Amino acid sequence: MWGGRFSEAPSDVMQRFNASIGFDQRLAAEDIAGSRAHATMLASQGIISEADRDAILSGLEQVETEIAEGRFKFSEALEDIHMNVEGRLAELIGDAAGRLHTGRSRNDQVATDFKLWVRGTLDGLIEATRDWQKALVTLAADHVGTVMPGFTHLQPATPVTFAHHLLAYAEMAERDLSRYADARARLNECPLGAAALAGTSHPIDREMTAKALGFYRPTANSLDSVSSRDFALEALSAASLGAITLSRFAEEVIIWSTAAFGFVKCSDAFSTGSSIMPQKRNPDAAELLRGKTGRVIGAFNTLAVTMKGLPLAYSKDMQEDKEPVFDALDTLGACLTIAAGVTGSLIVNKDTMKAAAGVGYTTAVDLADWLVRELNIPFREAHHVVGRLVATAEKTGTDLHELSDEALKAAHPELTGKVREAVTVEASVAARKHIGGPAPDAVNRELVKWQARLALK
Ligand code: ARG
Repeated sequence: MWGGRFSEAPSDVMQRFNASIGFDQRLAAEDIAGSRAHATMLASQGIISEADRDAILSGLEQVETEIAEGRFKFSEALEDIHMNVEGRLAELIGDAAGRLHTGRSRNDQVATDFKLWVRGTLDGLIEATRDWQKALVTLAADHVGTVMPGFTHLQPATPVTFAHHLLAYAEMAERDLSRYADARARLNECPLGAAALAGTSHPIDREMTAKALGFYRPTANSLDSVSSRDFALEALSAASLGAITLSRFAEEVIIWSTAAFGFVKCSDAFSTGSSIMPQKRNPDAAELLRGKTGRVIGAFNTLAVTMKGLPLAYSKDMQEDKEPVFDALDTLGACLTIAAGVTGSLIVNKDTMKAAAGVGYTTAVDLADWLVRELNIPFREAHHVVGRLVATAEKTGTDLHELSDEALKAAHPELTGKVREAVTVEASVAARKHIGGPAPDAVNRELVKWQARLALK
C-alpha cells in the first residue's frame, strides 16, 4: 500500500508484530459500512465517477458475502481489516478500488469503524441489562412479603424484604444502563473525513457520511477525530461500573447460598459439582461473575495507560485499543446474560430468610422507636433503655418479643407487654413504608413502576 517509498518488505517478525488483522477482523462489517458511505459521498460530490462508485459498491457487497460465509482469506501481510478489505476489492474490481481511499486515511477509517462497533455493543449491553432487570423484578414480585435480614458490616441490622433487596440491584443496573446510553450519545459524532489528521483538499461532504452511518453529526476537529479514544475509555469505565454491580450481586448469591446462610440455592443450570466430592453444589456462575469483573476493570486500566502519554495526532500505540475493549465488552455482555439466568432460576428459601431476619435483635430500633412514639422519650434515652434490654435478652437467651413483663418494666417503668407486637420482624418491616422503604406497601409501589418500565405487565 505504500510500496512507492520502500525498497524492502518488512521482516517477518515486524509483519507479525505490526499486524492487527488477528483481532480487528471483527470490524469488517463496520469497515464495509464506512466504505459504502464514503464511496457514495465521493460520487455525489463528483470526486469519483458513478461508474467507479457502482463498481466499488458491488465489490464491497461481494467482500461482505465472502466474509460472512467464511471464505475470505485474511492476510497478515495486509496488516489490518482496512487494507484486507481494500486489497480484496482491488482483486475483484481492479482500478476503481484504488479510488476508494481518496480523501480518507486509515486513521479516520479506524476511528469510525471502532466507534460504530462500540456504539452497537453499547446498544447490546443496554438490552442485556434490561434482561437482567426483568429477571430481578420478576423474582421480586414473588417476594414482596419475604422478610430477610438487612445487614451492615455483614452483621444482622434491620429486617428488610427480599423484593426490596432485589430492587436495589434493579436501581443500580438502571444507572449502569444510563451510563452506557450516555457513552453512546457522546461518541456519536463521525470522524470520517478527518483523513490522516488534517482533513483533505477534496470537496468532501462530511454531513452526508455522518448521516449515512447514523451519527448525529461530523466531529468538529480533524485532530481530535483521529487522536481520541476517550469514547472507548468511557465505554470501559461504564462497563467497569456495570461489572462491579454484577460482582456485588454475585458476592451476595455466593454468601446466601453457603450452608451457614442457606437463603438461596443456585439452580442446577447455573451450578457445578465437584470431581471428587459428590455432595458439592458450587455457585461457579456467581463466582465467575465476580471473577471476570477484574478483567473488565483491567481493560480500562490497559487503555488508560496506553493513551495517557500520546501526543496528537495518531500513533500506532492506538492500535492497542481494540483487544481490551473487545474483551471487556464481550465479557460484560456474557456476564449480564449469566446474571439474568442465575437470578431467574434462583431457588429461594423463605423460611430460612425469615428465621434469620429476627436473629441478633434486629428489631431493637423498632423497640426504641416505640418508646419515642408511645412514651415520648428522647431517642438517645430510648436507645439506652433498649441497650439494657438487649443485654438482658442476651443473658436469658431470649428474643426481644419474648422478654418477660418484669424484664420490660425493669428497663423502663412504663414499658408494657404491648410493645411486643411492634418488635416482630413483620411489624418492623411493615412500618417502614415511606418512599424507598422495605415495607411490602412501599415495595409494591416501586414494583408497579418497574413492571411498567420493563413492559412486564
Ligand atoms: N490498524 C491500525 C489501528 O488499528 C489502523 C490505523 C493505521 N494507521 C496508520 N497510520 N498506521 O490503529
